[in-house]
Amino acid sequence: MKFFIDTANLSDIAEAQALGVLDGVTTNPSLMAKEGVTGSDAILAHYKKICELVEGDVSAEVISTDYEGMIKEGEALAVLHPQIVVKLPMIANGVKACKYFSDKGIRTNVTLVFSAGQALLAAKAGATYVSPFLGRLDDISTDGLNLISEIRLIYDNYGFKTQILAASIRNTMHVINCAKIGSDVMTGPLSSITGLLKHPLTDSGLAKFLEDYKKGNG
Ligand code: E4P
Repeated sequence: MKFFIDTANLSDIAEAQALGVLDGVTTNPSLMAKEGVTGSDAILAHYKKICELVEGDVSAEVISTDYEGMIKEGEALAVLHPQIVVKLPMIANGVKACKYFSDKGIRTNVTLVFSAGQALLAAKAGATYVSPFLGRLDDISTDGLNLISEIRLIYDNYGFKTQILAASIRNTMHVINCAKIGSDVMTGPLSSITGLLKHPLTDSGLAKFLEDYKKGNG
């Protein structure tokens, strides 16, 4: 299972990268705005910085919703750095743009996916990644994990190569449940990755080991 971090915060990205388990980064316009990155030049420069910090794929989202605009923006993003994956919203023009980019060998991430039908369309358009938003479904009392299972079943039935990127992950249980279901990738905040480290018995066990060592080697 690949671990992506869902942020545009450079220090969080560097911390996850330093742990040695990071496979990539996802961003979105809200995450860029949260870091105060505005204006197209600054946004492109920020994507470059992110690519230089990590070794894996970096999803960069288009803002346009018309087909020509999506193609223009996506092409500009794709040439920025070889690690960039063009992130497209799940709307008709996004599906068309996904097909265009996949025919050209440009990697894509179809985002804002909330149903199995949308995921099927993304795969048929040749998406590299599909991003079902687990947490946002849970927020409206809908079973987000069930969506991931449905997509897994459909993709396996037909051998679709599109990778399931479980997005909108909020906690470590989401990560573990996605791993059980067979999600290819998860993307979440730094806490969803570092939280996996934690167990009180690890802490108390280590404290005891060190205490006993000191007794004999004081
Ligand atoms: C996916 O690529 C999105 O950036 C993301 O996971 C959205 O998560 P949120 O629901 O926590 O905003």
